Amino acid sequence: MCGITAYRGTSAAASRARCALERLEYRGYDSAGIAARNLDGTTLHVRTLDGVASLTDAVRSDESGMDATTAAIGHTRWATHGEVNERNAHPLEDCSGRLFVVHNGIIENADVLRAGLVADGHRFATEVDTEVIVHLLEKALRPGTGLGDALADAATRLAGSWAIVALDARSGTLAATAHGSPLIFAEGEEGVYFASDVGAVTPVVETFRVLEDDDIVEVDAEGMRWHRPGGSCRPRGLWPVPQTAFLASTGRHRDHMGNEIDEQPAVARRVLDVFTPGIADGRLWGGAGLPPLDEIDRVTILGCGTSLHAGRAVAGVFSRLGGLPTRTLVASEAAHEVWEPRTLVIALSQSGETADVLRALDGLPERDRTLLALTNNPSSTLARRADAVLDCLAGPEIGVAATKTFIAQVLTGACLALSGLSASARADGLAIDGDLRALAATPDALAAALDAWRGRAAELATEFVTSPGFLFLGRGSGLVYAAEGALKLKELSYRWTEHQPAGELKHGPLALVDAGTPVFVVDNGDPRLEVDVAEIHARGGRVLRVGERVLTVGGLPLHLPRTGPSWGPLETVVPLQMFARELALRLRRDVDKPRNLAKSVTVA
Ligand code: F6R
Repeated sequence: MCGITAYRGTSAAASRARCALERLEYRGYDSAGIAARNLDGTTLHVRTLDGVASLTDAVRSDESGMDATTAAIGHTRWATHGEVNERNAHPLEDCSGRLFVVHNGIIENADVLRAGLVADGHRFATEVDTEVIVHLLEKALRPGTGLGDALADAATRLAGSWAIVALDARSGTLAATAHGSPLIFAEGEEGVYFASDVGAVTPVVETFRVLEDDDIVEVDAEGMRWHRPGGSCRPRGLWPVPQTAFLASTGRHRDHMGNEIDEQPAVARRVLDVFTPGIADGRLWGGAGLPPLDEIDRVTILGCGTSLHAGRAVAGVFSRLGGLPTRTLVASEAAHEVWEPRTLVIALSQSGETADVLRALDGLPERDRTLLALTNNPSSTLARRADAVLDCLAGPEIGVAATKTFIAQVLTGACLALSGLSASARADGLAIDGDLRALAATPDALAAALDAWRGRAAELATEFVTSPGFLFLGRGSGLVYAAEGALKLKELSYRWTEHQPAGELKHGPLALVDAGTPVFVVDNGDPRLEVDVAEIHARGGRVLRVGERVLTVGGLPLHLPRTGPSWGPLETVVPLQMFARELALRLRRDVDKPRNLAKSVTVA
């Protein structure tokens, strides 16, 4: 899940690699580094634990402060093997200082390979699995062997997943290969690029190609060559660069997350403008290329983290409203899933690159099932593997914690499900109208939640800044929002959070509640929540209710019951996101880059 990039062209290679890395930093920010060949044949090799921005001065390499490099590779790391230090940062270098390697993925047989290489006299300088690639490459690069062939040879020894770019600093040649990890190749006006994500190169190219497993691409003074084990191959097909890959601004906030939370009503409006016209006549469903719901026996929805929560909300439309057998699967636990025929599989992933999701789909039979990708990245690996793709239209999300993509996924999925139900015989007698009205009201509901909680979230964050832990409760359709609120708070603030179905409270978690314990309750109008709330009050817990509708009658608050839409009270996630951000800011956390996390989790 690291970010890798490379450039070969006329000039300023290291600067271009640094710019690309800035756009990839969301994939991991434990360390960053660049290796480049200067025009005069010397080498630049810089690594840092202080973020990509700190490489700026280092890449202005010659005396005049100009960047005179013509080939460069760069890396931003999310550590898997080996601790976070400069020695373990990529690019890694061979003993002679000629070869440099960046790698994303995991080499599963690294220990075995390392033992063999050590026995052959190779000396290792780091703990990272990538170093075996450097030594294998060094070994394979015999006189008369090109860098591409040497890389192909090295790759045949590897097990696991990888996207690798190697630089021969003597000649400026680049060679790249991939296996189970994304890697793209793109040609710009002044040179060629490799990157683990098209977002890295969006300002400078219009189209890109995706390396298939075991493709080797070599670029040198003669041009580019594609080959595979067993012979040459044609360059892979061109994809247009998606507009959503452009980098967003932070707006009036100092961080992207604040801006992305604020954008949610507008995102909801965009999604609904595009998708609601296709609901009533089933056009959205049919247009996506999905079989009629009457030909589907069950729906299985899978994803990870926030996307899994969005999937659970969407599942409510199929099951609560449509009465369809619907399951949600934690993608990382779905490897041994037995897939039944006539299943619609909906995989949710904002990045479309989450390895756990892709691995879960490895076992999906070719026939008698349909795979729909619901993603914010329609050119992603997931989208390319799916039978049908729905772009959730959230626009670029830079904050590592997902916010607006969650809203966009829930609404896109809800529109799709409603469209499928509208077109099927199941529509008879279904209360679809209520859900359609709720959809139309969603942008305003999100905006109202933002307004209502702006000051309140900040005040509560100040009040609870020293609280060691937080409980989140919900029932039925509200539970998924409690789960999402708990996830947001723990990943941003590094405080313990737990979410529970409110009915489970008395079966154990109530023991956690003491005087002043903060307990968020997501109110979806289920009257049983009043009993749960009373139980918390009785123990001195502090109930923080979101989603309530309260009327004051004769000076007394009257809680109104509310029948929410089948995907639940979506707007309740807004105060929970805001509280998580406000608390994290007070604790001086980097809300855009929570520790130990990355935006695109490309290791399983
Ligand atoms: C949490 C968060 C993660 C992701 C998860 C799946 O804020 O962002 O839990 O939701 O890693 O990522 P995608 O959606 O890219 O598959």
